[in-house]
Amino acid sequence: MNARVIQVDPFDLVVFGATGDLAQRKLLPALYHRDDAGQIPEDARILGVSRRRLSDEDFRASARKAVSGEGGDVEITTLNRFLARLHYIAADAGADAGWPEVATWLQERPGRVRVFYLATAPELFGPICNRLGTAGLSENGARVVVEKPIGKSLASARDVNDAVGAHFSEDRVYRIDHYLGKETVQNLMALRFANSLFEPLWRAAQIDHVQITVSETLGVEGRAGYYDTAGALRDMVQNHMLQLLCLVAMEPPASLAADAVRDEKLKVLKSLLPITDGNIGERTVRGQYRAGASQGGPVPGYLEELGNESSHTETFVALKTEIANWRWAGVPFYLRTGKRLPNRVSEIVAQFRPVPFSVFDTSAGPIEADRLVIRLQPDEGVKLWLMIKDPGPGGMRLRHVPLDMSFARAFQVRNPDAYERLLTDVIRGNQTLFMRRDEVEAAWTWIDPILQAWTASPDRPKAYTSGTWGPSAAIALIERDGRSWYEAPE
Ligand code: BG6
Repeated sequence: MNARVIQVDPFDLVVFGATGDLAQRKLLPALYHRDDAGQIPEDARILGVSRRRLSDEDFRASARKAVSGEGGDVEITTLNRFLARLHYIAADAGADAGWPEVATWLQERPGRVRVFYLATAPELFGPICNRLGTAGLSENGARVVVEKPIGKSLASARDVNDAVGAHFSEDRVYRIDHYLGKETVQNLMALRFANSLFEPLWRAAQIDHVQITVSETLGVEGRAGYYDTAGALRDMVQNHMLQLLCLVAMEPPASLAADAVRDEKLKVLKSLLPITDGNIGERTVRGQYRAGASQGGPVPGYLEELGNESSHTETFVALKTEIANWRWAGVPFYLRTGKRLPNRVSEIVAQFRPVPFSVFDTSAGPIEADRLVIRLQPDEGVKLWLMIKDPGPGGMRLRHVPLDMSFARAFQVRNPDAYERLLTDVIRGNQTLFMRRDEVEAAWTWIDPILQAWTASPDRPKAYTSGTWGPSAAIALIERDGRSWYEAPE
């Protein structure tokens, strides 16, 4: 089946930090794939900017490697067409050199869609926006794209937002949370709002609790420097996991218009019950991985990787929260995320309430509650676990089985990377899948007291062995409530 492809308008995209990890690993391959799909018009141009002195040809060579190095099929004609779009100018936010050339390059094509992607360290967001503003390049509908970390706290997030907002109005700021670009995350909206089946059940009367797990097998890899200043709460919960929670819990928006969706997400964030000094112990668990085994081989612990024995940075978080509103009052939302866990899996589980009474004999076996499992990655799909009669003779015996919709099996299409969708949305001017300023700040408002309570506590994060599901306290967190973490059967 071919996906429907609509070409975007001609654009000039300027990528700051063009030689960095994000640009090379994600942005250039994503743009290549959209080009391959026929979505990029003939005269669209891409300008790489960073401090390194490179020629256009050097930059194209690095892009060729970035695109071919992905391991997938590369179409040579497309690759050459794509590389011909690329240009390069060396410029540094701290010096004047290069900026006039950037301005001249942009002025060659006035009046077209203009996007600045800041794939740089966040400290540079303000200085780069100042440069763009001073040179008059932030005018005429120009858009800016920034990515997390947007601050390390509410106060610092406000500073970042102010610095960007000084030159770009909110309707031209695109804050990426790449989880929102994942296919199945968007499917969550389709599931909830394009079916009438779930809506009457999607509430406290029918749902016992919700679990959101984002587990990774990787450690911090080469990013220990950044990661140690962040930790799992800032790196994953403040953004990706709270965004998932919002999409699960929000009210149906009036439309898919950006502000309609974002207004509803904001209400969820504002309704989260606060976690504070008083309940931090029973509501959160933080962990840090020790040496162990991952994917069949031995791996070192976090502190060895970091080379600093005294770090209190968490590589695992489990927490329990509630949404204080009419729909969700009393329904716990359990979130957990961590590095060096047994599997890479991102999953949302809505656990329905058990039947109120069993009409079956005990010989039929236990009746398990229905469960909807939305798998974001890998093996994207949706499973609805139901009780059925065990087929065949032998009387009435009950069995819990999934109605299984694996997207890979059902649709023979390539699953696009999140950045492909998000980059084309920026060019189209569609902000629905991007975080608005007040959302980011509301998320920090909820996260800040957790960070403060952890900082004030003399306790270290609890150790867990690499390759396990985090500290045992994370299991106790949910089992105290008579529930358990969902582990997908192999
Ligand atoms: C990033 C985090 O935002 O998301 C990383 O900084 C994490 O630490 C990554 O590994 C996970 O993304 P994905 O798409 O691989 O699930």
